[in-house]
Amino acid sequence: MSTVHVVGAAGYSGAQLAALVDAHPAFTLGQVTARADAGRRLREVAPEYRVDAVLQELDLDSVGPGDLACVCYPHAEAARVVGDLVDRGVRVVDVSADHRLRDPALYPEWYGFAHPRPDLVAEAVYGLPERYRDAIPAARVVANPGCYPEASLLALLPVADLVTDVVIDAKSGVSGAGKTPTAAVHYCAVADSVAAYKVLAHRHTPEIAQELGQPVTFTPHLVPVDRGLLASCYARFTGDAPHPDDLRQRYVDFYSGHPFVEVVEQPPGMRAVQHTNYAQVCPMVDSERGRLVAFGVIDNLGKGAAGQAVQNLNLMAGRPETEGLA
Ligand SMILES: NC(=O)c1ccc[n+]([C@@H]2O[C@H](COP(=O)([O-])OP(=O)(O)OC[C@H]3O[C@@H](n4cnc5c(N)ncnc54)[C@H](OP(=O)(O)O)[C@@H]3O)[C@@H](O)[C@H]2O)c1
Repeated sequence: MSTVHVVGAAGYSGAQLAALVDAHPAFTLGQVTARADAGRRLREVAPEYRVDAVLQELDLDSVGPGDLACVCYPHAEAARVVGDLVDRGVRVVDVSADHRLRDPALYPEWYGFAHPRPDLVAEAVYGLPERYRDAIPAARVVANPGCYPEASLLALLPVADLVTDVVIDAKSGVSGAGKTPTAAVHYCAVADSVAAYKVLAHRHTPEIAQELGQPVTFTPHLVPVDRGLLASCYARFTGDAPHPDDLRQRYVDFYSGHPFVEVVEQPPGMRAVQHTNYAQVCPMVDSERGRLVAFGVIDNLGKGAAGQAVQNLNLMAGRPETEGLA
């Protein structure tokens, strides 16, 4: 049994993660940490998960080599804690953005802080098993993908070398913003409305571009649902547009052996993946205009955060990739 600590367990992704680890047949839930809620049971803070563990302040003296941890802090806060844990021999899945960008110089530009541990940025493995499955098991730091990048990349990676001029129009449920209320995510701002935000400036743009190997135009929207994220992606084929059957077969082949990605024939909706670690992707061809139209849908707290983190923990611990997630 591997011990898994969940740092920031009172937040949306941390609480979901703690519940998945608690129910996992090969993991023991270690520290579940919180600041303001320290001393309370997790089930009091997040009753939907029914986890009895008591939240506590992070105790770095009680972690050690062989342990695994997931850090579910906001960016910049996470980088510091990930470094402290790795220095004590703990292998970490960072659910924040702090180890996703390979170039440390991008952190001041996009996240507003100078990265304290460029050495760990350099060695971190991007935690998308559909692309980096072979590198994840030995990693000390796995950078869980962002929720928008996860859905967008799964929709686009099979044709990354065939397309250019990529446009991603994405919609996220409100839990993507975390548990701290702000005016922008207030019920009255979100209910019965849909709006774009952070246009041409969202922090997930360089992450998607890095993994896709080309620039993208990315526009996120907030939609009045709790959980779920849909990326509608458009791109121009650089050569002849493939036949729809050939395009679909390319996706089926790409995701063969990847148990959490389903290639579907109709544009998928959030309902199909909510509360799961599954992603659905659907590629289509606009033959007249030589364009790809591809959809990717996930649960932002599932394959977009906590489920993806457990999938990575499974690989790091040498367990079956689907354990505790099927
Ligand atoms: N929500 C999603 O769909 C999603 C998806 C993918 C990735 N992520 C990333 O995962 C991380 C956690 O996201 P979340 O949505 O779970 O956030 P959240 O609900 O706001 O939870 C964040 C937790 O971090 C702790 N924390 C520590 N230092 C903090 C600080 N200075 N300010 C605020 N909170 C602090 C808080 O717990 P205490 O106050 O108890 O310490 C809080 O419970 C973020 O980096 C986010 O970008 C989120």
